[in-house]
Amino acid sequence: PIPVIIDCDTGVDDALALLFAVRHPGLDLRAVTCVAGNTDVDGVVRNTLTVLEVAGAPEIPVARGAARPLIEPSRSARHVHGDDGMGDIGLPAPTRVPSDLGAVDLLRREILASPRPVTLIPTAPLTNIALLLRTHPEVTDHIERIVFMGGAVACGNATAVAEFNVWHDPEAAAILLTAGVPITMYGLDVFQRVVVPGADVRALRESAEPGARLAGDLLAHRPAAPDVDGDPEAGGIGDAGAVCAVVDPAGIATRLLPVEVSLAPGPTRGQTLVDRRPRPGESEIHDGLREQSLVDVALEVDVDRFVKLYLETVAGV
Ligand code: BDR
Ligand code: CA
Repeated sequence: PIPVIIDCDTGVDDALALLFAVRHPGLDLRAVTCVAGNTDVDGVVRNTLTVLEVAGAPEIPVARGAARPLIEPSRSARHVHGDDGMGDIGLPAPTRVPSDLGAVDLLRREILASPRPVTLIPTAPLTNIALLLRTHPEVTDHIERIVFMGGAVACGNATAVAEFNVWHDPEAAAILLTAGVPITMYGLDVFQRVVVPGADVRALRESAEPGARLAGDLLAHRPAAPDVDGDPEAGGIGDAGAVCAVVDPAGIATRLLPVEVSLAPGPTRGQTLVDRRPRPGESEIHDGLREQSLVDVALEVDVDRFVKLYLETVAGV
């Protein structure tokens, strides 16, 4: 199995990602680290511990990370993920506490201890990852790839042009993009497309398996679930798509493109500028392209393939 660590802000769709990752036999989920984003970091830790318990994986280490972005104050996504960050579906409190190590230290320990280079899957603002890369740059040699949910080629969600995870901590995202590690950007363009039909959501909710049932409840209560073709019960898998892309990279079509984060104050802050010009422009010809800013950007996703992969894994159908 591929050794992976998920850095998340659980979060309805982060929970969908965790439920998939613990069940897929091709993944070895070595740790989960938490960061402020969809809700405050203590809420994220609680939600993450509970989801792993329901999924029957209470042994996976969970660590608390950054309580706020590098520079900005925290801004909640309550309007999307509910007061508890989990769609207020009445999840029980966890029975265990997080690791004594903080997120950066747990990430370092697990990355260096892994017999094979680790794939990091951030599905949240990139604060923990930026702190890790700056504090312990030696880990980069032990990272296979970072597949992150964030950014957008076309349209934003937090603002007209910025996607939430990058917008919440743009400086952290900029540190990630210039780290010199192979990066795949699973952005909004593909993120929003992978939607489970209502009939499958209903079947999940009736499952005898607690993890599958929770996935069904979350999909059903996923606020802002797109009303696809008059199917109001359909629910997007969101962050879980980034984990699908690690298991099944052929399910997305990517192009290696220069990506930069807008750090300027004002309406473009947090935008990912993806340069799709067929030839570099004048300035790049003069300055030379910075190799580390080239990112594998997901431009297309095979929706049916990822929906099938998700359902087969989580429901065992
Ligand atoms: C991202 O923001 C969060 O609300 C979701 O969990 C996802 O990671 C989408 O912009
Ligand atoms: Ca998330």
